[in-house]
Amino acid sequence: MTSAGAAGAVQGAQPLTVLVAGGSGASGTAVARALAAAGHRVATAGSDQARIKEAAQKAGHGVRPFTCDLAALDDVRQLRDDVAGALGTVDGVIHLVGGWRGAKGIADQSDDDWDFLERGAVTTLRNVSRVFFDDIAASAAGRFAMVSSTALDKPAAAVASYVAAKAAAEAWTMAMADGFRRASGDGGSTAAATILVVKALVDDELRRTYPERTFPGATDVADLAAAVVRLFGTPSGELNGARLRLAD
Ligand SMILES: NC(=O)c1ccc[n+]([C@@H]2O[C@H](COP(=O)([O-])OP(=O)(O)OC[C@H]3O[C@@H](n4cnc5c(N)ncnc54)[C@H](OP(=O)(O)O)[C@@H]3O)[C@@H](O)[C@H]2O)c1
Repeated sequence: MTSAGAAGAVQGAQPLTVLVAGGSGASGTAVARALAAAGHRVATAGSDQARIKEAAQKAGHGVRPFTCDLAALDDVRQLRDDVAGALGTVDGVIHLVGGWRGAKGIADQSDDDWDFLERGAVTTLRNVSRVFFDDIAASAAGRFAMVSSTALDKPAAAVASYVAAKAAAEAWTMAMADGFRRASGDGGSTAAATILVVKALVDDELRRTYPERTFPGATDVADLAAAVVRLFGTPSGELNGARLRLAD
């Protein structure tokens, strides 16, 4: 078993087991790295074995990669068993699968794009939340978070499918928050479901690839990662059902 807690960086809290769902990209690498550096036991899940392994290696700190199609419910059930066996029962899930598709307007929003967005942004989130809900609710510091977009502030025709999929994911996450409230019983639940809102994400590789771009309003993945780490040290009453803007 990987013992990220050996780093001893969790202050005033127990090391937790956290799953980063969709951990193969720059955001997943940064979030996994920051959580593990904070002393938590971190699992990452991605659909491609080579990519998720490489990202976990980049993250370092004993981050454990798991290959799983999060859009397939049975695979996610297996993932729950695999992560529990390797690192312990999951306390928190950070959902990072999204994807982006746009069009010219409403009439050319395609079924292919809708299927892609529904699968990435909604189905994977529904699956991880259904499979891990009881574990998160039972944890002393259970957390679920997704990353949404400022595009929902003022939906544009060109991104109708994108904002509709993200709105569905947000609604599901708010329903999870209600589920945690209802699961609280007499003692009060310590679990929280939270939406983190960004305009765009940026990382050093993107900046190197597009040196001419300025990325106005973008959130660095390191700042997203720091916000995720803070979720585990913030009272659930401040987080459950909250929509926290990380963008200007
Ligand atoms: N990037 C932005 O500018 C931006 C803006 C607003 C909001 N957001 C949101 O922020 C979050 C993170 O964004 P991102 O751009 O870093 O993420 P992303 O590229 O959309 O997804 C993260 C990772 O999820 C994995 N993935 C996709 N389908 C999967 C599946 N079926 N099963 C398991 N893993 C799967 C992908 O790796 P594999 O293909 O290797 O599995 C990918 O690297 C998303 O929710 C996104 O919607 C991003």
